[in-house]
Amino acid sequence: MNANPHVAIVGATGAVGKELLGVLDQRRFPLSRLTLLASARSAGSVVDFRGEKLTVQELREDSFVGVDIALFSAGGNISRKFGPIASAAGAVVVDNSSAFRMDPDTPLVIPEINPEDAKQHRGIIANPNCSTIILLMVAAPIHRLNPIKKIVVSTYQAASGAGAVAMKELETQARDHLEGREVKPEVFPYPIAFNAFSHNSTMDPDTGYNQEEWKMIQESHKILHDDSIRITPTCIRIGTFRAHAESVHLELSREANIEEIRQTLRTAPGVKLIDDRNRNYFPMPLEASGLDDVLVGRLRRSSSSDDGKEVDFFCCGDQLLKGAALNAVQIAELLLPKS
Ligand SMILES: NC(=O)c1ccc[n+]([C@@H]2O[C@H](COP(=O)([O-])OP(=O)(O)OC[C@H]3O[C@@H](n4cnc5c(N)ncnc54)[C@H](OP(=O)(O)O)[C@@H]3O)[C@@H](O)[C@H]2O)c1
Repeated sequence: MNANPHVAIVGATGAVGKELLGVLDQRRFPLSRLTLLASARSAGSVVDFRGEKLTVQELREDSFVGVDIALFSAGGNISRKFGPIASAAGAVVVDNSSAFRMDPDTPLVIPEINPEDAKQHRGIIANPNCSTIILLMVAAPIHRLNPIKKIVVSTYQAASGAGAVAMKELETQARDHLEGREVKPEVFPYPIAFNAFSHNSTMDPDTGYNQEEWKMIQESHKILHDDSIRITPTCIRIGTFRAHAESVHLELSREANIEEIRQTLRTAPGVKLIDDRNRNYFPMPLEASGLDDVLVGRLRRSSSSDDGKEVDFFCCGDQLLKGAALNAVQIAELLLPKS
C-alpha cells in the first residue's frame, strides 16, 4: 500500500460519508488524493476538505482507476455492485454496509478487538454493524478477562442510524408535534419524535427477531471468533438524533470481580468509564455524540445472579463515528505501511 494513498469515498454526501471526511481530516490521514462519489443527485456539489474545494462526482464503473482505498458508505446494493469493481481495479474496499459482513472470505474488523483479521482480506474488509461495534467495544475487554457465556442486550438507537433523511424526519416531526401539526412518518414506519418502537429492520416472523438483532448475534460471533456465546438482543429505535445506547447483561465464566472489570474498562482503548453513582451521572447519547470513545457506566454485579457470575452495564457510542466512519478510517490505517 502506498504511504500516501488515493482514497475514494462512495456515498460522500450521506450521514456517514460526511463524518468520513471529518475523521480523515481530524486523524491527519495521509492522502495523495481524495475522490468524492455519490449519485447523480448530488454530483457537482462542492465540499471543502483541508482548504481545497472538492467536487462530488457521480459513481460510475470507471470511478476507481488509480484508487488505493475505497471507503463505501452508500448502502448494500451499491456495495454489492461496485465493491467488486473497485477491488478488481486495485483498491482495497472498506465497506460500511452489511453486504459482505458474513461472507467467510471478508474480514469483519474492529481495530481495537481483532485488527489481525484485516490482514486476511482479499480486497474487501467489512465494517461491523453500529450496535455490534458499540456492544463489543465494552464486552470484548471483559470477555478477555473473564469469558462471556451469555449476552442479553437492549438497544436505544438514534434516528441518524437510518441516514441523513431520517435525522431530518426527526427534526421535522419534533417541530410539527410541538406546533400542533399532523405528524407524517415517511422514512420510519411510525412517528420517531417523542417515541420508541421496535427497530425498523425486517422482522423474521418465525423467530421473532429482526435483522438488526440477527446482525448483532452473528457479527459478534464472527468478530470474537466464538460461536458458543449465547446472545439475545432487543433493538429499539428512539427519538434521539445520534449516538446509540445499550443496556447489557452478561453472564461470565467465573465470579465477576467488579473492581477488576472497572480497571480493565478504564484502560481499554476507545472506551471511557463514566460511572458516578453519587451524582447519578452515567453515559448519555447527548454526551456521546461527536465523541470517538464509547462511554460505559452503571457497571454492577447483577441482582439476578445467584452465583456472582452476572454483571450489568449501560453504554453509549456515536454510531456515525465509532459505529461507522471512525471504525472505517481506523481499518484504513491498518492498511498503511508501518512508518
Ligand atoms: N447512519 C449510520 O449510523 C450508519 C452506521 C453504520 C453503517 N451505516 C451504513 O452506511 C451506509 C450509508 O448510510 P448513511 O446513513 O450515510 O446513509 P445516507 O445518509 O442515506 O447516505 C447515503 C449516501 O449514499 C449515496 N447514494 C445513494 N444512492 C446512490 C447511488 N445510486 N450511487 C451512488 N451513491 C448513492 C447518497 O448520495 P446522494 O447524496 O447522491 O443521494 C449518500 O451520499 C449504509 O449502508 C448504512 O447501512 C450507517
